[in-house]
Amino acid sequence: MTRVAVLAGTGSAVPARVVTNEQLAGRMDTSDDWIRSRTGIAERRMVEPGTATSDLAVAAGRRALRSAGLHRVGAVVVATATPDYQCPATGPIVAAGLGLGEIPAFDVGAVCSGFLYALATGSGLIASGVAEQVLVVGAEAFTTIIDPTDRNTAPLFGDGAGAVVLRAGDPEEPGALLGLNLGSDGLLADLIMVPAGGSRQRSHGNVAAPEDHYFTMRGREVFKHAVRRMEESSRTVLEQVGWQLAEVDWLVAHQANIRILHAVADQLRLPRERAVANLDRYGNTSAASIPLALDEAAGRGLFTPGDRILLTAFGAGATWGAAALTWPDLSNGPDLGNGPALSNGPGLSSAWELAAAAMVGPAQL
Ligand code: UT7
Repeated sequence: MTRVAVLAGTGSAVPARVVTNEQLAGRMDTSDDWIRSRTGIAERRMVEPGTATSDLAVAAGRRALRSAGLHRVGAVVVATATPDYQCPATGPIVAAGLGLGEIPAFDVGAVCSGFLYALATGSGLIASGVAEQVLVVGAEAFTTIIDPTDRNTAPLFGDGAGAVVLRAGDPEEPGALLGLNLGSDGLLADLIMVPAGGSRQRSHGNVAAPEDHYFTMRGREVFKHAVRRMEESSRTVLEQVGWQLAEVDWLVAHQANIRILHAVADQLRLPRERAVANLDRYGNTSAASIPLALDEAAGRGLFTPGDRILLTAFGAGATWGAAALTWPDLSNGPDLGNGPALSNGPGLSSAWELAAAAMVGPAQL
């Protein structure tokens, strides 16, 4: 029988600190109306000084392990563009933080497509027999690379983490990851970039200008590439797994902009209400956005076991991808986060608990 990766648990965590559009409008030339109407974002989360990506990743990972009913996994893969350090990778720090022992743990860098790349990596570790279970985390302290006064980027991005546990299983099981499509075009590397801090800048031996350490993006161009690549990648993966578009129950796409989400849904002729959206509350959390959206939607009881789920993302690189899976029967239920071993650490909350408290209805999804 074919051995595939099966989703066995989900978890997420976001910093408690909320930054509203009004707060941003107080320090740059923008407005709540512009941000909401052009992006769909109302607020985002921001780490407190001293909180790093691995703190968010550990909190989300702990919840995912609990949701899967596991204390151990065979490997940890962390997708992030904001690692704790340039060296070492964040994966081993997360594995140690979770008390997982001396298992393989490493990072995958594909920025906003990072979770799909990490999912492919985790699935490969299972298919090859390297691991029976893999914790796949997308985590970002993205605001740490954002110029807090730049109206082109500060309204868009936020911090958070989402995680899933994959285990070895068979393709007929609910939760099976049935297909993946990934792509990249490095000719578009300068579309989205942090110019300084890497070997390109450091090899010159000059100290970089402070602003070169911040994230830059040519938003309008990215928008067009994002819609086209997510549509194409989605169609490719659906063909690969033999699903008709009409058979897709939920589209869980990278949460960059509500206009992008709607454009992708429209291109795929999927009803917009089938496109899961939580970017109004978290903005673009880069590699964290898909697992955060999955965990939050699961916590709200949106998915039924067996539902056909299409994931897709586009990000810096340029990179893109799509995945097709069925929703698992997470019989333990979503992680309520109230176990004594699950202390969130300072200032971290479960995203789905917050959503439940806000009583967000399906119309707002
Ligand atoms: O996660 C990786 C993938 N990232 C994305 O997918 C992001 C993709 N891009 C986008 O989401 C959108 O392009 C943005 C949200 C970044 C920008 O929206 P847009 O509708 O493409 O706006 P624009 O860049 O065409 O700018 C329209 C106007 C400009 O003014 P003029 O030239 O028309 O006078 C901008 O200067 O809006 C201005 N503007 C703003 N105004 C108020 C740009 N940012 C702001 C702002 N507040 N924050």
